[in-house]
Amino acid sequence: MQAFDNLEEYVLAHISPEHEYLHRLYRATHTQLLRPRMASGHLQGTLLRMLASLIRPKSVLEIGTYSGYSALCMAAGMEADGKILTFEINDEQEDFTRPWFEGSPFPAAIEMVIGDVLEILPGRPDRFDMAFIDGNKRQYPDYYRLVMSRLNEGGFIIADNTLWDGHVIESAYDADAQTQGIREFNAMVAADPSVEKVILPLRDGLTLIRKI
Ligand SMILES: C[S@@+](CC[C@H](N)C(=O)[O-])C[C@H]1O[C@@H](n2cnc3c(N)ncnc32)[C@H](O)[C@@H]1O
Repeated sequence: MQAFDNLEEYVLAHISPEHEYLHRLYRATHTQLLRPRMASGHLQGTLLRMLASLIRPKSVLEIGTYSGYSALCMAAGMEADGKILTFEINDEQEDFTRPWFEGSPFPAAIEMVIGDVLEILPGRPDRFDMAFIDGNKRQYPDYYRLVMSRLNEGGFIIADNTLWDGHVIESAYDADAQTQGIREFNAMVAADPSVEKVILPLRDGLTLIRKI
């Protein structure tokens, strides 16, 4: 039997292989960008693609584009007429990410907006069947309120980093603003009777939320 150093290696060897284009993007993210660990990567990206193929959204909202890895995974899972609206507040990200969208098989499916989603989306009419929340952890409660006001009935929210490296249960992080944001988000979702929810302890914690 092939030897594996850890379970993550084993898991990655037994799921659908990473598409060659995504593999190149992941490598470029690591060699050209700061904080490359923010990119979803093979395991989470494969789950996002599968969720998009299950949910079959016509419209997807993404909060936090970064290098575009997660948006391309969701685009790969959607039907051909699906659209993704992805927001990135950091304008320095545009020169890197836009060519990766344009060179992908889905150039027309992804609209990248540079700016703060909390300022721009309220002025647009868009509604969504699926949303991926992956922006600033301090703002997760505000994202939740905004996304819920735009999510169609039966729609899904996927929120990343909801266990925040375990800090959600560590008192040493009580004064940390990002931990506070994630805890408040988790409490809001838990108390909201209008959604079904489950937290997957995958990677940094991924919450799946369904609007009833
Ligand atoms: C974790 S990264 C996104 C990773 C990407 N979704 C992926 O999985 O490959 C978070 C990104 O959110 C962006 N961001 C933070 N606050 C934002 C906001 N209010 N509006 C739009 N983008 C935001 C950051 O600049 C950063 O690039």
